[in-house]
Amino acid sequence: RNRVFSGAQPTGSMHLGNYLGAFRNWVRLQEDYECIYCVVDLHAITVWQEPAVLIQQTREAAAAYIACGVDPQKSILFNQSRVAAHAELAWIFNCVARIGWLNRMTQFKDKAGKNREKASVGLYVYPDLMAADILAYKATHVPVGEDQKQHLELTRDIALKFNNDFGREVFPIVEPIIQKEGARVMSLRDGAKKMSKSDPSDASRLNLTDDADRIALKIRKAKTDPLPLPEDAAGLADRPEASNLVGIYAALADLSQADVLARHGGKEFAPFKKDLADLAVARLAPISNEMSRLMRDPAEIDAVLDKGAEKAAALARPVMEEVRAVVGLLGAR
Ligand code: TYM
Repeated sequence: RNRVFSGAQPTGSMHLGNYLGAFRNWVRLQEDYECIYCVVDLHAITVWQEPAVLIQQTREAAAAYIACGVDPQKSILFNQSRVAAHAELAWIFNCVARIGWLNRMTQFKDKAGKNREKASVGLYVYPDLMAADILAYKATHVPVGEDQKQHLELTRDIALKFNNDFGREVFPIVEPIIQKEGARVMSLRDGAKKMSKSDPSDASRLNLTDDADRIALKIRKAKTDPLPLPEDAAGLADRPEASNLVGIYAALADLSQADVLARHGGKEFAPFKKDLADLAVARLAPISNEMSRLMRDPAEIDAVLDKGAEKAAALARPVMEEVRAVVGLLGAR
């Protein structure tokens, strides 16, 4: 049976990259799969989070999922720390994964920076917790942006080693679902950097909470090169900013980059950006409106998360019983 699991960290404002790389695909998958969508607050605390802010951002992340179209009637929506199976299975996976595997993780290298000795141990074993998130439900498919691909390969390696070590097919080998357009949205200020919650420049990203004026302003100010748009997709090579804006357009309009350039190729950036801003506002303004509506009543969000946590815990329970028995933890049935 196919089951989808995915999540995002409540560490700042959700942005266009999260939407195009992940959330909009989560919404589509609800029609065909049993879906579990998680706000990964335990992952968030691998770097310092102000406690009161973390609570607010966890609610805001849940509001973003719902505003983007995640339907709590169809899918399970909850925050990670409510289901203890995640942390428990992560510990078992800490004992399955090898130090050498984690040493290869590029996200750890990026996030820890030069001063690796000062990074939290949690940041280092972050991918083991991610594997636990997915495998505590024996999920088979994981919709993510390009940047999570390496972590999902680690999840596959952990599942394979676990099954092999214990001689039982306990865990499925997960398939990433990565969309062609929008899988890697870049910063609006620098076409070589990923659009990210942690970029100190707010102008580098379109936040899902930005209003129409801010969206239009940020797109107008987005970095470009001096040439007009190329006539075809081949002309985007070595033009990271042009490539990013055309890619964003394509993803928002559900077109290929070739289709976008068939319409806009040869134009100057100014008129293209105007069209792109209209398109972005049309797609994002309803999301930001719905998020503010939801955030006015946190009790409603909390109730959704309570219910989701209960359902998620019920799905993880038999998996954890099986895992404990297979590993040889006394008391397991
Ligand atoms: P996070 O919180 O960084 O991002 C959430 C989702 O958004 C995607 N994404 C992007 N896609 C395209 N362009 C971008 N610039 C961009 N930035 C972010 C991410 O790929 C992701 O799909 N480790 C994960 C959270 C996680 C998880 C999981 C995901 C924890 N457990 C289990 C899947 C399954 C993370 O930090 O995502």
